Amino acid sequence: MTDHLDGVRDHYRATGLTERLKTALATLGPEDQRLTPQQLGALDQFHTGGLAATAELAKLAEITADKSVLDVGSGVGGPARYLSATFGCRVTGVDLSEPFVDAARYLTERTGQSAMVSFETGSALELPFDDGRFDIVFLQHVAMNIADRAGLYREIRRVLKPGGKFLTYDVVSNGGEPLFPVPWSRTPATSYLLTATATHQAIEPVGFRTLISRDDSEAGKAWFMAMRASGPPPSPNLGVVMGRDIVELSANLGRNLVEGRLGILTAVFEAV
Ligand SMILES: C[S@@+](CC[C@H](N)C(=O)[O-])C[C@H]1O[C@@H](n2cnc3c(N)ncnc32)[C@H](O)[C@@H]1O
Repeated sequence: MTDHLDGVRDHYRATGLTERLKTALATLGPEDQRLTPQQLGALDQFHTGGLAATAELAKLAEITADKSVLDVGSGVGGPARYLSATFGCRVTGVDLSEPFVDAARYLTERTGQSAMVSFETGSALELPFDDGRFDIVFLQHVAMNIADRAGLYREIRRVLKPGGKFLTYDVVSNGGEPLFPVPWSRTPATSYLLTATATHQAIEPVGFRTLISRDDSEAGKAWFMAMRASGPPPSPNLGVVMGRDIVELSANLGRNLVEGRLGILTAVFEAV
Protein backbone atom coordinates (compact mmCIF):
# COMPACT_ATOMS: atom_id res chain seq x y z
CA MET A 1 0.00 0.00 0.00
CA THR A 2 1.10 3.59 -0.55
CA ASP A 3 3.13 5.78 1.84
CA HIS A 4 0.24 8.01 2.70
CA LEU A 5 -1.76 5.02 3.99
CA ASP A 6 1.22 4.13 6.20
CA GLY A 7 1.09 7.65 7.65
CA VAL A 8 -2.65 7.31 8.34
CA ARG A 9 -2.15 3.84 9.85
CA ASP A 10 0.53 5.28 12.07
CA HIS A 11 -1.81 8.02 13.32
CA TYR A 12 -4.36 5.34 14.38
CA ARG A 13 -1.77 2.80 15.59
CA ALA A 14 -3.26 2.61 19.12
CA THR A 15 -0.67 0.22 20.59
CA GLY A 16 -2.17 -2.30 23.05
CA LEU A 17 -5.65 -0.85 22.54
CA THR A 18 -7.72 -3.94 23.38
CA GLU A 19 -5.82 -4.50 26.64
CA ARG A 20 -6.27 -0.84 27.57
CA LEU A 21 -9.99 -1.10 26.80
CA LYS A 22 -10.31 -4.18 29.02
CA THR A 23 -8.77 -2.25 31.90
CA ALA A 24 -10.83 0.90 31.29
CA LEU A 25 -14.11 -1.01 30.94
CA ALA A 26 -13.59 -2.83 34.24
CA THR A 27 -15.08 0.30 35.86
CA LEU A 28 -18.41 -0.45 34.09
CA GLY A 29 -18.76 -4.00 35.40
CA PRO A 30 -17.36 -7.55 35.12
CA GLU A 31 -16.11 -8.91 31.76
CA ASP A 32 -19.20 -11.17 31.33
CA GLN A 33 -21.69 -8.32 31.80
CA ARG A 34 -23.19 -7.04 28.52
CA LEU A 35 -22.44 -3.45 27.61
CA THR A 36 -24.83 -1.14 25.72
CA PRO A 37 -24.09 1.32 22.86
CA GLN A 38 -24.95 4.13 25.30
CA GLN A 39 -22.36 2.99 27.86
CA LEU A 40 -19.66 2.96 25.18
CA GLY A 41 -20.77 6.16 23.40
CA ALA A 42 -18.03 8.42 24.78
CA LEU A 43 -15.29 6.12 23.47
CA ASP A 44 -16.59 4.36 20.37
CA GLN A 45 -18.18 7.18 18.33
CA PHE A 46 -15.16 8.89 16.83
CA HIS A 47 -16.73 11.91 15.09
CA THR A 48 -18.28 15.31 15.75
CA GLY A 49 -21.61 14.96 17.55
CA GLY A 50 -20.94 11.46 18.94
CA LEU A 51 -23.73 8.87 19.17
CA ALA A 52 -26.44 11.46 18.43
CA ALA A 53 -24.82 12.25 15.07
CA THR A 54 -24.81 8.55 14.11
CA ALA A 55 -28.49 8.33 15.09
CA GLU A 56 -29.26 11.44 13.02
CA LEU A 57 -27.46 10.06 9.93
CA ALA A 58 -29.16 6.68 10.36
CA LYS A 59 -32.60 8.36 10.14
CA LEU A 60 -31.71 9.44 6.59
CA ALA A 61 -30.80 5.89 5.57
CA GLU A 62 -34.25 4.25 6.00
CA ILE A 63 -32.64 1.05 7.30
CA THR A 64 -34.71 -2.09 7.81
CA ALA A 65 -33.66 -5.44 9.28
CA ASP A 66 -33.26 -7.07 5.85
CA LYS A 67 -30.70 -4.50 4.62
CA SER A 68 -27.00 -5.22 4.59
CA VAL A 69 -24.92 -2.26 5.72
CA LEU A 70 -21.21 -1.49 5.31
CA ASP A 71 -19.43 1.06 7.52
CA VAL A 72 -16.25 2.21 5.78
CA GLY A 73 -13.54 3.37 8.20
CA SER A 74 -15.49 1.80 11.06
CA GLY A 75 -13.04 2.80 13.82
CA VAL A 76 -13.68 0.84 17.03
CA GLY A 77 -17.14 -0.04 15.77
CA GLY A 78 -19.58 2.16 17.70
CA PRO A 79 -21.62 3.26 14.67
CA ALA A 80 -21.85 -0.33 13.34
CA ARG A 81 -23.07 -1.63 16.71
CA TYR A 82 -25.59 1.19 17.05
CA LEU A 83 -27.07 0.54 13.57
CA SER A 84 -27.47 -3.19 14.18
CA ALA A 85 -28.88 -2.73 17.71
CA THR A 86 -31.39 -0.12 16.48
CA PHE A 87 -32.57 -1.59 13.16
CA GLY A 88 -31.82 -5.32 13.55
CA CYS A 89 -29.68 -5.33 10.38
CA ARG A 90 -26.36 -7.02 9.66
CA VAL A 91 -23.47 -4.56 9.62
CA THR A 92 -19.94 -5.07 8.35
CA GLY A 93 -17.18 -2.65 9.26
CA VAL A 94 -13.87 -2.23 7.45
CA ASP A 95 -10.91 -0.21 8.72
CA LEU A 96 -7.27 0.36 7.86
CA SER A 97 -6.13 0.13 11.49
CA GLU A 98 -5.62 -3.44 12.72
CA PRO A 99 -5.67 -2.43 16.41
CA PHE A 100 -9.00 -0.65 15.82
CA VAL A 101 -10.47 -3.75 14.14
CA ASP A 102 -9.23 -5.94 16.98
CA ALA A 103 -10.78 -3.53 19.51
CA ALA A 104 -14.03 -3.34 17.50
CA ARG A 105 -14.34 -7.15 17.61
CA TYR A 106 -13.66 -7.20 21.36
CA LEU A 107 -16.24 -4.47 22.08
CA THR A 108 -18.79 -6.28 19.88
CA GLU A 109 -18.31 -9.44 21.95
CA ARG A 110 -18.87 -7.32 25.07
CA THR A 111 -22.19 -6.02 23.66
CA GLY A 112 -23.21 -9.56 22.58
CA GLN A 113 -23.57 -8.57 18.90
CA SER A 114 -20.90 -10.70 17.20
CA ALA A 115 -23.50 -12.71 15.24
CA MET A 116 -24.76 -9.57 13.47
CA VAL A 117 -21.80 -7.19 13.41
CA SER A 118 -18.38 -8.09 11.99
CA PHE A 119 -15.18 -6.23 11.15
CA GLU A 120 -12.38 -6.67 8.62
CA THR A 121 -9.04 -4.98 8.22
CA GLY A 122 -8.72 -3.36 4.80
CA SER A 123 -8.40 -0.16 2.83
CA ALA A 124 -11.34 1.88 1.64
CA LEU A 125 -9.44 2.13 -1.65
CA GLU A 126 -9.49 -1.66 -2.13
CA LEU A 127 -12.58 -2.87 -0.30
CA PRO A 128 -12.38 -6.63 0.34
CA PHE A 129 -15.97 -7.27 -0.90
CA ASP A 130 -17.67 -8.38 -4.12
CA ASP A 131 -19.44 -5.95 -6.43
CA GLY A 132 -23.02 -5.06 -5.44
CA ARG A 133 -22.82 -6.73 -2.03
CA PHE A 134 -24.39 -3.98 0.16
CA ASP A 135 -27.66 -2.00 0.30
CA ILE A 136 -26.27 0.89 2.33
CA VAL A 137 -22.77 2.32 2.89
CA PHE A 138 -21.86 4.71 5.74
CA LEU A 139 -18.75 6.92 5.75
CA GLN A 140 -18.36 9.05 8.87
CA HIS A 141 -15.29 11.27 9.39
CA VAL A 142 -13.01 9.16 7.17
CA ALA A 143 -12.71 10.92 3.80
CA MET A 144 -10.41 13.61 5.24
CA ASN A 145 -7.72 10.91 5.57
CA ILE A 146 -7.99 9.85 1.92
CA ALA A 147 -6.12 11.57 -0.90
CA ASP A 148 -7.62 9.56 -3.76
CA ARG A 149 -11.24 10.64 -3.43
CA ALA A 150 -12.30 9.44 -6.87
CA GLY A 151 -10.85 6.02 -5.97
CA LEU A 152 -12.64 6.02 -2.60
CA TYR A 153 -16.06 6.87 -4.02
CA ARG A 154 -15.60 4.48 -6.98
CA GLU A 155 -14.95 1.61 -4.53
CA ILE A 156 -18.02 2.54 -2.49
CA ARG A 157 -20.14 2.63 -5.66
CA ARG A 158 -18.72 -0.77 -6.73
CA VAL A 159 -19.80 -2.57 -3.55
CA LEU A 160 -23.28 -1.00 -3.53
CA LYS A 161 -26.30 -2.51 -5.29
CA PRO A 162 -27.90 -0.29 -7.94
CA GLY A 163 -30.43 1.86 -6.08
CA GLY A 164 -28.40 1.46 -2.87
CA LYS A 165 -27.66 4.40 -0.60
CA PHE A 166 -24.38 6.05 0.33
CA LEU A 167 -24.33 8.35 3.37
CA THR A 168 -21.38 10.56 4.16
CA TYR A 169 -20.82 12.74 7.22
CA ASP A 170 -17.45 14.42 6.95
CA VAL A 171 -15.30 17.41 7.71
CA VAL A 172 -14.87 19.74 4.73
CA SER A 173 -12.55 22.62 3.98
CA ASN A 174 -13.85 26.16 3.68
CA GLY A 175 -10.83 27.12 1.62
CA GLY A 176 -8.12 28.01 4.16
CA GLU A 177 -5.63 25.88 6.12
CA PRO A 178 -6.88 24.34 9.37
CA LEU A 179 -5.02 24.52 12.66
CA PHE A 180 -3.23 21.24 13.47
CA PRO A 181 -3.16 18.82 15.22
CA VAL A 182 -6.73 17.61 14.62
CA PRO A 183 -8.32 14.25 15.49
CA TRP A 184 -7.56 12.66 12.07
CA SER A 185 -4.05 14.02 11.63
CA ARG A 186 -1.37 15.56 13.80
CA THR A 187 0.21 17.34 10.80
CA PRO A 188 -0.96 18.41 7.32
CA ALA A 189 0.85 15.34 5.86
CA THR A 190 -2.13 12.96 6.24
CA SER A 191 -5.01 15.41 5.92
CA TYR A 192 -6.78 15.64 2.56
CA LEU A 193 -9.72 17.98 2.93
CA LEU A 194 -12.01 19.02 0.07
CA THR A 195 -14.70 21.69 0.04
CA ALA A 196 -18.34 20.54 0.09
CA THR A 197 -18.65 21.44 -3.61
CA ALA A 198 -15.49 19.50 -4.55
CA THR A 199 -16.77 16.53 -2.51
CA HIS A 200 -19.96 16.45 -4.59
CA GLN A 201 -17.89 16.84 -7.75
CA ALA A 202 -15.87 13.76 -6.76
CA ILE A 203 -18.90 11.64 -5.80
CA GLU A 204 -21.49 12.26 -8.51
CA PRO A 205 -19.45 11.31 -11.64
CA VAL A 206 -18.65 7.80 -10.32
CA GLY A 207 -22.34 6.82 -10.39
CA PHE A 208 -24.28 8.65 -7.67
CA ARG A 209 -27.30 10.95 -7.62
CA THR A 210 -27.57 13.43 -4.72
CA LEU A 211 -30.67 12.92 -2.56
CA ILE A 212 -29.74 15.17 0.39
CA SER A 213 -26.93 17.67 0.94
CA ARG A 214 -26.82 19.56 4.22
CA ASP A 215 -24.37 21.92 5.88
CA ASP A 216 -24.14 20.66 9.49
CA SER A 217 -21.40 23.09 10.56
CA GLU A 218 -23.67 24.92 13.02
CA ALA A 219 -24.67 21.67 14.75
CA GLY A 220 -20.98 20.70 14.89
CA LYS A 221 -19.99 24.03 16.44
CA ALA A 222 -22.82 23.80 18.99
CA TRP A 223 -21.66 20.30 19.99
CA PHE A 224 -18.05 21.41 20.55
CA MET A 225 -19.17 24.47 22.51
CA ALA A 226 -21.40 22.31 24.72
CA MET A 227 -18.47 19.89 25.26
CA ARG A 228 -16.20 22.77 26.23
CA ALA A 229 -18.77 24.10 28.69
CA SER A 230 -19.46 20.71 30.30
CA GLY A 231 -15.81 19.66 30.76
CA PRO A 232 -14.26 16.31 29.84
CA PRO A 233 -16.70 13.51 28.86
CA PRO A 234 -17.25 10.68 31.35
CA SER A 235 -14.65 7.91 31.44
CA PRO A 236 -13.96 5.70 29.63
CA ASN A 237 -13.79 8.02 26.63
CA LEU A 238 -11.84 8.49 23.36
CA GLY A 239 -8.71 9.23 25.38
CA VAL A 240 -8.37 5.44 25.84
CA VAL A 241 -8.34 4.99 22.05
CA MET A 242 -6.24 7.97 20.93
CA GLY A 243 -4.28 9.00 24.00
CA ARG A 244 -4.54 12.02 26.27
CA ASP A 245 -3.89 14.55 23.50
CA ILE A 246 -7.39 13.79 22.12
CA VAL A 247 -8.44 16.77 24.28
CA GLU A 248 -6.16 19.10 22.29
CA LEU A 249 -7.01 17.46 18.94
CA SER A 250 -10.77 17.82 19.56
CA ALA A 251 -10.42 21.38 20.84
CA ASN A 252 -8.60 22.30 17.60
CA LEU A 253 -11.36 20.79 15.47
CA GLY A 254 -13.89 22.78 17.50
CA ARG A 255 -11.86 25.94 16.99
CA ASN A 256 -11.51 25.29 13.24
CA LEU A 257 -15.31 25.00 13.03
CA VAL A 258 -16.04 28.02 15.20
CA GLU A 259 -13.55 30.17 13.26
CA GLY A 260 -15.00 29.01 9.93
CA ARG A 261 -11.87 27.27 8.57
CA LEU A 262 -13.69 23.95 8.41
CA GLY A 263 -17.29 22.82 8.03
CA ILE A 264 -19.32 19.61 8.27
CA LEU A 265 -21.14 18.10 5.29
CA THR A 266 -23.93 15.54 5.59
CA ALA A 267 -24.96 14.06 2.26
CA VAL A 268 -26.99 11.10 1.00
CA PHE A 269 -26.63 9.63 -2.50
CA GLU A 270 -28.38 6.95 -4.51
CA ALA A 271 -26.29 4.55 -6.60
CA VAL A 272 -27.41 4.91 -10.23
C1 LIG B 1 -11.98 9.65 12.90
S1 LIG B 1 -12.04 7.91 12.77
C2 LIG B 1 -13.79 7.62 12.49
C3 LIG B 1 -14.19 6.20 12.87
C4 LIG B 1 -15.67 5.87 12.70
N1 LIG B 1 -16.14 6.13 11.35
C5 LIG B 1 -16.50 6.63 13.69
O1 LIG B 1 -17.15 7.60 13.27
O2 LIG B 1 -16.52 6.26 14.87
C6 LIG B 1 -11.37 7.64 11.12
C7 LIG B 1 -11.21 6.17 10.79
O3 LIG B 1 -10.95 6.03 9.39
C8 LIG B 1 -10.03 4.97 9.22
N2 LIG B 1 -9.39 5.14 7.91
C9 LIG B 1 -8.64 6.19 7.47
N3 LIG B 1 -8.21 5.97 6.21
C10 LIG B 1 -8.71 4.76 5.83
C11 LIG B 1 -8.62 3.97 4.64
N4 LIG B 1 -7.91 4.37 3.57
N5 LIG B 1 -9.26 2.80 4.61
C12 LIG B 1 -9.97 2.35 5.68
N6 LIG B 1 -10.08 3.05 6.83
C13 LIG B 1 -9.46 4.24 6.92
C14 LIG B 1 -9.08 5.14 10.39
O4 LIG B 1 -8.32 3.98 10.63
C15 LIG B 1 -10.06 5.49 11.51
O5 LIG B 1 -10.56 4.34 12.15
